[in-house]
Amino acid sequence: MEILQNRRWICLTLTLILKLNCSGEVESCTRRKVKRLLSFQRYCHASRLLRGLVPHTPGSLHLLDDDYLGQAGHMLSKVSAWNFDIFLFDRLTNGNSLVTLMCHLFNVYGLIHHFQLDMVKLHRFLGMVQEDYHSQNPYHNAVHAADVTQAMYCYLKEPKLAGQLSPLDVFLGLMAAAAHDVDHPGVNQPFLIKTRHHLASLYQNTSVLESHHWRSTVGMLRESGLLSHLPADMSQDIEQQLGSLILATDISRQNEFLLTFREHLDNQDLDLQLASHRHFILQIALKCADVCNPCRVWELSRQWSERVCEEFYRQGDLEKKFDLEISPLCNQQADTVPAIQTGFISYIVEPLFEEWQRFTEPSLLSQTMMGHLHKNKARWSRLRFTHPTSESQMQPHVEEDPEPEEQSLLFTV
Ligand SMILES: *[C@@H]1O[C@H](CO)[C@@H](O)[C@H](O)[C@H]1NC(C)=O
Ligand SMILES: [Zn+2]
Repeated sequence: MEILQNRRWICLTLTLILKLNCSGEVESCTRRKVKRLLSFQRYCHASRLLRGLVPHTPGSLHLLDDDYLGQAGHMLSKVSAWNFDIFLFDRLTNGNSLVTLMCHLFNVYGLIHHFQLDMVKLHRFLGMVQEDYHSQNPYHNAVHAADVTQAMYCYLKEPKLAGQLSPLDVFLGLMAAAAHDVDHPGVNQPFLIKTRHHLASLYQNTSVLESHHWRSTVGMLRESGLLSHLPADMSQDIEQQLGSLILATDISRQNEFLLTFREHLDNQDLDLQLASHRHFILQIALKCADVCNPCRVWELSRQWSERVCEEFYRQGDLEKKFDLEISPLCNQQADTVPAIQTGFISYIVEPLFEEWQRFTEPSLLSQTMMGHLHKNKARWSRLRFTHPTSESQMQPHVEEDPEPEEQSLLFTV
């Protein structure tokens, strides 16, 4: 009976999702999309098993689920581990890492019950977010979003923070992480401005991408009706707070946030009873999660580094093709992966995580992250000088770093 009911539920949601995502034309759906949706339905059923909602009885449906659970489900039981391999998780979930992870974390925190969320609407929303990431971007794709969400989850669990957070804080933190780069075009803001992209004029050349990620998220929230049962002022507040969190990921505002954070820590005046202070810490946590790649174990860290540089180089190739000036960091011949990474770590990641460690102290996770950060930095440093660029081979003494301010500006454009 339970199986029959579940099967009916699965068919119903699948039909719904197919209709909603494909405007009634199931035929136009790609096979990959259908495959993803199917495996997602399996996960939903499986997660009910995980939570003990469905008694585990043998049956053909369950055999499928167990097979599925055996891999991705086993990984989910260790989702708070800092060495969580999101690339593997994405393969095991058939490209559904973001939806699967978010569903799981919403269950872990009881957010569906707390906010009385409609499961079908939640699936619709998360599916839309995941699909709106560009899978052809080497870096800014749904796996990056899932990775940032997993890091955010680890930060929300920090002893200094966990006990102070309200369900709304957790909801906002996870939602902002999942959606913070949605529909990223794989090129940066200066590129959009100089090519007179409509987004640049829409957002008047400021936080162009971040504004777009936020407004797209709001659009999908409204389209899915996920928050339509909440009082208007509450859903408005959620939209505004999501905006403030997502806009904080604009790297050109890094100094502003870092200085304020440092000041709070120096004055020891952060009061997490205050919603405004918790919001500030969520902004910082999201910023940390967004640039935490160099704090991961080398094997994961290296993959992200190569991906982000590949995305830069593609922009550089586009600029070359259209006779535009090649942007900083985007020239594959001059800007090597080790050089980009050592700069990024020294001027963006290290200063931020030093303050985060001060805030979270004593924190095992922060210690682990700083350990990886220093090792990875040293490794990129060695690689930088053992594999110099052709340019520096000709002029071996010009490899001097520019002034710190100049160098950090490269990353904040
Ligand atoms: C945005 O930048 C472009 C190119 O520099 C410039 O032509 C345009 O006037 C700027 N728009 C705004 C609103 O500042
Ligand atoms: Zn990001």
